[in-house]
Amino acid sequence: KKAEIIVDKYYLTGKVDKRIFGSFIEHLGRAVYEGIYQENSPFADEQGMRKDVIDLVKELQVPIVRYPGGNFVSGYHWEDGVGPKSERPSKVDLAWSVIETNQFGLNEFADWAKKAGTQIMMAVNLGTRGPEEAKDVLEYCNFKGGTYYSDLRKKHGYEQPHDIKLWCLGNEMDGPWQMGHKTAKEYGRVAAETSRLMKFMDPTIETVACGSSSLTMDTFGYWEDEMLSECYDQVDYLSLHQYYGNRDNNTTEFLANSKGMDEFISSVLSICDCVKAKKRSKKQINLSFDEWNVWYHSNEADSQLEKWVQAPHQLEDVYNFEDALLVGSMLITMLRHADRVKVACLAQLVNVIAPIMTSDTGAWRQTIFYPYMHASVFGRGTVLNTLVQAPVYESKTYGEVSCLDSVCIWNEEAEELTVFAVNKDLEEDMQVTCDFRQFADYKVVEHIVLTNDDMKAVNTEAAPDCVAPVYSNASVMEDGRFSTVFGKHSWNVVRLK
Ligand code: AHR
Repeated sequence: KKAEIIVDKYYLTGKVDKRIFGSFIEHLGRAVYEGIYQENSPFADEQGMRKDVIDLVKELQVPIVRYPGGNFVSGYHWEDGVGPKSERPSKVDLAWSVIETNQFGLNEFADWAKKAGTQIMMAVNLGTRGPEEAKDVLEYCNFKGGTYYSDLRKKHGYEQPHDIKLWCLGNEMDGPWQMGHKTAKEYGRVAAETSRLMKFMDPTIETVACGSSSLTMDTFGYWEDEMLSECYDQVDYLSLHQYYGNRDNNTTEFLANSKGMDEFISSVLSICDCVKAKKRSKKQINLSFDEWNVWYHSNEADSQLEKWVQAPHQLEDVYNFEDALLVGSMLITMLRHADRVKVACLAQLVNVIAPIMTSDTGAWRQTIFYPYMHASVFGRGTVLNTLVQAPVYESKTYGEVSCLDSVCIWNEEAEELTVFAVNKDLEEDMQVTCDFRQFADYKVVEHIVLTNDDMKAVNTEAAPDCVAPVYSNASVMEDGRFSTVFGKHSWNVVRLK
């Protein structure tokens, strides 16, 4: 098969906000306990933070991590997780039917984030609590001192504020499963008032309002319109969440889901701009795709889990090779919307639907680790509006779907050009050309490929490198004419400099 990629260095989509490569740690399963934190582990540092995990998070160059939930946050009392550990209460977590010991809380997370070289995106509880408690936690985190909560932070050993800039106003409040679930109007009002109070306290913060929990919610569209109409002026971003699964074992259909994600983003943007027009507003609301991933492998195992235990093996999807292809395509999709998608969080980071897994004997990279790492490390710069002319296939859900997903990123300062591409064709390689004469003096630095003969190949503790990147010499640049081959079912990163 043949395809052409068309770009022009003056035709730009927009600068990549590095927060688009964010991730997520929730108090859920073994994400915190046995994930980022495990006292008495041979891998733990003096605070109990797992150093092997920190090393892998650094390898991913994760710029921001959402915390502490997720569904968990909608019943969370942040006060339970601060102060002397011996005095912290164990509580029931009704979101995941487990017991939360609170031995890890927001101060430990702030310490961990520093060690991992990342920023915090903090969520407040707008399920069972409201604006008052949101203001309190902000005061505890960001206020300099001389007030009850800021002095409490100091008493807990944190003299300097954590200075957290990005705040989620609750989580998935449209979902009937959510503690404190609300109607769009109810949520819009509380989001507006919470954001207003929080910005009185610290005008330098930005806030994210909850959009739909997925494109398939019955309330999708109505939810965004109604609740944004209430809080448009007070918030900065609208969230989107979406997970995909290959439950019918139909790989081509599964890989078509990036088209669904693209349509989801476009639809939400239309609604944001519609509310903007109705309000005659000059302000633009951008998007925070703060939960996205593949999630389905662990569903059955999770339905058998014993309740009211601590840190069970929950949502531990073992990702296969085809999952990595879809994750690559989802990253490309978000990058293609870099003008409006400013924040995104791969959900999640460690053990729970995660690129990184741990056991008592070490940590390893799941298949999805690689496209995420490549995008985060090499995807910084400006997105070139990338036209892809490629063969299509017919999907039951989405109609015509391109066999090739691709996006080009230009890092002008570093004089680097990166092409990300997924060839979704399961049978044929794709010969691809691109007129790069505006970058005529650039040379191919490397062409990284992730592929496997077995779409279901996985990385495990026993065999952690079954799916790992290799290098290709198929990419050639001659007088500004670029040509390459993207092998059948492959994730590709071509770097030119
Ligand atoms: O990421 C797992 C869960 O998925 C989150 O807690 C929730 O927000 C979503 O439904």
